[in-house]
Amino acid sequence: MLSIGIILGSTRPGRNGEAVARWVHQLARRRTDATFELVDIADFGLPLLDEPVPPSLGHYSKDHTKAWARVIDGFDGFVIVTPEYNHSTSGALKNAIDYLYGEWNNKAAGFVGYGSAGGARAVEHLRLIMAELQVATVRAQVMLSLATDFENYSTFRPAPQHEGSLAAMLDQLVAWSTALRTLRPAAMHVA
Ligand SMILES: Cc1cc2nc3c(=O)[nH]c(=O)nc-3n(C[C@H](O)[C@H](O)[C@H](O)COP(=O)(O)O)c2cc1C
Repeated sequence: MLSIGIILGSTRPGRNGEAVARWVHQLARRRTDATFELVDIADFGLPLLDEPVPPSLGHYSKDHTKAWARVIDGFDGFVIVTPEYNHSTSGALKNAIDYLYGEWNNKAAGFVGYGSAGGARAVEHLRLIMAELQVATVRAQVMLSLATDFENYSTFRPAPQHEGSLAAMLDQLVAWSTALRTLRPAAMHVA
């Protein structure tokens, strides 16, 4: 069975991202074409990148890196739930992405963004970053507005049409994750 990780990209106390990621998980898990698991980067306690060797060489020295690598390696694709900070993604998510290399390669990702402009600018940056990691990003994305999908900018109340956007994105993500699985060797990349 295809395995998709839903990555919660905000670690901020009081973050809106947690409710968004839980909503994605709740809807995604009704599907029968993949299994979906929530991955909270806050759970990994990753400091600012502290590996001496570039991740593309796959020589991980720290326990936190190995734990993070094991989890990412186990997925065929990703839903990336991203906030928008200063027209990009969060520093915490960029740092978590930078920690690894081979574990991301030849997989697919879809995005759920939120912000004043639906997180669109954060998602555009992430598309460039993920391309460098050989992650194919699907076109359909979910764009949640802080003004209309959150009461008082804090309580998540998504407009009904977002369920359709999420389903469209997941359809593309499952299709591409399935196709890309054929490119990957059975051997895992974890050092
Ligand atoms: C440091 C910082 C920068 C922000 N910059 C933007 C921005 O450029 N565009 C935007 O739409 N929202 C911006 N916001 C608002 C966030 O999108 C909003 O606070 C959102 O809830 C953040 O996600 P989180 O609550 O999961 O951390 C910013 C928030 C923070 C904390």
